[in-house]
Amino acid sequence: MQPKKVTVRTIARMAGKTEGADAGAPQKIAMVTAYDATFARLLDEAGCDILLVGDSLGMVVKGESSTLSVTVDEVIYHLRAVGRGTRRAQVVGDMPFMSYQSALDEGLRNAGRLIKEGGAEAVKIEGGAEQAELVRRLVGAGIPVMGHVGLTPQSVHALGGHRVQGRGPEGRKKLLDDARALDEAGCYAIVLEGIPRDLGGELTRAVRAATIGIGAGPDCDGQVLVSYDLLGMNDEFRPRFVKRYDQLGVRIRTAAEAYVSDVRAGRFPDEEHSYGAEPAPRGEGQLYGTVAPAGPAAGPPDGGGSGAEADAIAAGCIPLRPSKG
Ligand code: KIV
Repeated sequence: MQPKKVTVRTIARMAGKTEGADAGAPQKIAMVTAYDATFARLLDEAGCDILLVGDSLGMVVKGESSTLSVTVDEVIYHLRAVGRGTRRAQVVGDMPFMSYQSALDEGLRNAGRLIKEGGAEAVKIEGGAEQAELVRRLVGAGIPVMGHVGLTPQSVHALGGHRVQGRGPEGRKKLLDDARALDEAGCYAIVLEGIPRDLGGELTRAVRAATIGIGAGPDCDGQVLVSYDLLGMNDEFRPRFVKRYDQLGVRIRTAAEAYVSDVRAGRFPDEEHSYGAEPAPRGEGQLYGTVAPAGPAAGPPDGGGSGAEADAIAAGCIPLRPSKG
């Protein structure tokens, strides 16, 4: 069964910031980054509410030292992949550096591309009051906008590095003004990054938008982490705000080492992983467990899922059309 899609209304309800018939018990929002279909499928199945195709892809996918080189075309490419793997979560596309800062029209056009070409269901924009007019225009055009204040990595050079923001009274006031301006302009959510925990709580109480914290303490309406960080894929990256839920970096290396060792020793492939000369039984004849092309004619005459498709899905392949099972 197709799960109910997370929308801006779901997010408002979870944050406990709706009134009337839509109001319900608040529930913390879990957001993570995703960059490809396989991760998207796993994170979606795990119950993540929002998948962000973040410009962090510049660092964790492209291997750059900042997010600045990421292009609109790259975000669109990754959005498409993430969209194919996602059934329930809301998919948000990050607006890359200089795709919206130079002119309102350019921001509108590029946000439109993330929606039309990438399939994003909302866009994220870094910056405070200076972006309020763009937010207003985007919301007016029917594009949900997630703001992002505090430590905004696209301004890394202006901020003098990746440092905690809003520690002094001036910085606190500016962040409060920025969050309010974005809220009034119509952002449905605002990421709060790298700020003291008490300020995270204060901003959350000050705005109607759902606040999503990253290094902003527990009092935000939700939390976001870069998926590679929460999975522990980079041994060297250990900032205080990251909690590692696994050590996938170690596990991937260990598995790959075992594979290398098997190949060198001639233990792989063995009998179990080799083909015989005899025709294969039904459902085992395909080299790769890919599924039939989309469309009503794709299924077998009995209307059930093909053995190959079921095997493929069980093995982790992503169905190109909704599975019947
Ligand atoms: O690009 C990104 O991954 C982000 C999140 C960390 C919020 O902006």
